[in-house]
Amino acid sequence: MFKKIILVSLIGIILSFLFGDEATEVIASLFGSLLFSHYRSTSHPEPTSEKLFGKDELKLYNGLDKPELYLSLLGYVFDVSKGFKHYGPGQQYNIFIGCDASRSFVTGDFNKDDINDEVADLNRDELKSLQHWLNFYKKEYVEVGKLEGKYFDKHGKPTPYGILVQKLIKEAEIIEQNEDEEKQKFPPCNIEWDPEKGTRVWCSKNSGGISRNWIGVPRQLYEPGSKSYRCACISEHNEKLAKFKEYKDCHNSESCILKE
Ligand code: HEM
Repeated sequence: MFKKIILVSLIGIILSFLFGDEATEVIASLFGSLLFSHYRSTSHPEPTSEKLFGKDELKLYNGLDKPELYLSLLGYVFDVSKGFKHYGPGQQYNIFIGCDASRSFVTGDFNKDDINDEVADLNRDELKSLQHWLNFYKKEYVEVGKLEGKYFDKHGKPTPYGILVQKLIKEAEIIEQNEDEEKQKFPPCNIEWDPEKGTRVWCSKNSGGISRNWIGVPRQLYEPGSKSYRCACISEHNEKLAKFKEYKDCHNSESCILKE
């Protein structure tokens, strides 16, 4: 660093001797950027996601004890200072600051006494929602480390609980993907209810929000092991599959009136 300053000084003396005031201005700005880059590289290291926070340490990042606002989600710690209007002291989502309130991200329970990081018992949709929040924070904010506790051990490695939760989230995502594929193959029917005519289900090239070049006929689709069904539009070559049942008196019609 100091070698660079001496070099710039020497060049500065020669240039100002040759070109006068203009050169002095250029040299001043060069000094400025040199000093700034030195300040950046020594005083403000880039945030590292390797840092391991203790619970008490994380509590300090509340905008008061320390100027930054940090929150933890599934054990990942994010700097959300730029979202002061949401997370700052007295703001609506301040409850998330300085702790891991993973559960509240899906329950919407913002009562201080109910804040906790227990999520393994949540249902599939809630687990997927947690993953969405995690993706959101990874995209919108800087990850500054991990919280030692439920999700990461003192070496920053995932705990058995952390691994279990990741597995549950993955499973929830796979099931959702399978359901999406199933919906593409067997799109939901249109449905309407009229007090006089009753319920009508029917198929169209866009029913269930699935655009396709076939219409299909409405059938009751029973998932294996389930007693309930949903109305699905199926094309001719899937007619024989065991999981489909015809609606009563509705063999080959695109539209069926459901009889009680
Ligand atoms: C489970 C329930 C909820 C949770 C966990 C939640 C969480 C959050 C969080 C963390 C933020 C800040 C996002 C950021 O960093 O930019 C936010 C923003 C916001 N939330 Fe909620 N929220 C919930 C329910 C609601 C409800 C029911 C409403 C409205 C009736 C609402 C309205 C808003 C609005 C308007 C913003 C600000 C959006 C913006 O300015 O960009 N939230 N929410």
